[in-house]
Amino acid sequence: MSLLAELNDLKVYFYDQRDKRFIRAVENVGFSINEGTVLGVVGESGCGKTVTALSMMGLLESEPGIIDGQFFFKPSEEDAELIKQSLSRGVRKQNDYKKDTLFNLFFGLDRYVSFEENPFTIIKDSEKWLRRNNRIMEHIRGKNISMIFQNPEQSLNPFIPVGGQLTRTIKRFNREANSYEIKEKAIKLLRSVRLYRPEIVMSMYAGSLSIGMAQRVTIAIALCSHPRLLIADEPTTGLDTTNIYKMIELLEVLMTEMNLTLMLISHNIRIVSTIASNILVMYAGTVVEIGSKNYVMKTKKGPKHPYTEALVSSVPSDSDIKRGKKLRVIPGTVPNNKRKMDCCPFLERCPYAEGKIRQKCESACPELARVASQHYIRCYLFYS
Ligand SMILES: Nc1ncnc2c1ncn2[C@@H]1O[C@H](COP(=O)(O)OP(=O)(O)OP(=O)(O)O)[C@@H](O)[C@H]1O
Ligand code: SF4
Ligand SMILES: [Mg+2]
Repeated sequence: MSLLAELNDLKVYFYDQRDKRFIRAVENVGFSINEGTVLGVVGESGCGKTVTALSMMGLLESEPGIIDGQFFFKPSEEDAELIKQSLSRGVRKQNDYKKDTLFNLFFGLDRYVSFEENPFTIIKDSEKWLRRNNRIMEHIRGKNISMIFQNPEQSLNPFIPVGGQLTRTIKRFNREANSYEIKEKAIKLLRSVRLYRPEIVMSMYAGSLSIGMAQRVTIAIALCSHPRLLIADEPTTGLDTTNIYKMIELLEVLMTEMNLTLMLISHNIRIVSTIASNILVMYAGTVVEIGSKNYVMKTKKGPKHPYTEALVSSVPSDSDIKRGKKLRVIPGTVPNNKRKMDCCPFLERCPYAEGKIRQKCESACPELARVASQHYIRCYLFYS
């Protein structure tokens, strides 16, 4: 299996005009995704899942946005040359923006941004950076990486029928195709996302679709361009349990049928674990645990971040539900993301932060430490 994407040390900040303070949305987030695998990204609301995905798509709306990091991606062969041309303007050494067949899509960011830790300040020429980033991302968005957004109804146009929205997107990526071929492709895509009677669905408007249908239509639109990586942000929101698992099954089938790699974002670690190869657990904008599903979901034995442990036990398994066990809320609240992270971010909610270890937990934020091959945890309990 070869490497498709590698995100390193992503830092994303926003600015709160009212408070006149920076919001730390994402801090040093990193992971890699091999072709044909599923990376599950989990964590509570506000932990930075969507911001991470939007950064990879170059779609952050507020500034300063990305201030540091590298995002290596392997584009299709036909786009590689165009991306190389955009990235290499004014650069002498190829190695600076390339690693084997992967390109660093954030290359050059340091020319537009600088930041100081104490007191925290960011200076960024956002206009110039966005102009550069858009030139690169126009070869990536859709054709190489496609995203299903968190609210399916909002990502569909309420005034254009489903068919119109699909054919418009197909046309954009298939300039040579005639209208008959485009319509056939639209119908085929609707069938592939298991929407029955696709000819009728083509004439429907977003307002008359159920949440499940709307979600399938957005998947069909995201697949028009045959992306290499599909980012699905909370694709099961609003669905009942039966439909949640049908949706996950569909994504799994599409991966094989369309040769896809998937980044699946969800609050629910159990749902993600049904198809994920690797799981990334985020908390307060940071990665607290990352590893293969078998390590991260391991019950009882083996190292597990206290937050992952709480996350797993907050969602009852199928057998728990049968026994009447309810969803358990993790006590406490997430830390204020406008303050410097000078202790473990999970400190105030952690049942293990007692006695001697607590002093360490209070002293500084722990590093993400390797506890096994391909398994990393950010917690003093697992420092050797
Ligand atoms: N455009 C923005 N301007 C200011 N702050 C933002 C913006 N977008 C996100 N944030 C903040 O960044 C942090 C991470 O947000 P993000 O949307 O990534 O969370 P999430 O993990 O996707 O949450 P959810 O599960 O609710 O979708 C939050 O504190 C959020 O309030
Ligand atoms: S470092 Fe301390 S507070 Fe943080 S998760 Fe580990 S034990 Fe809990
Ligand atoms: Mg989100």
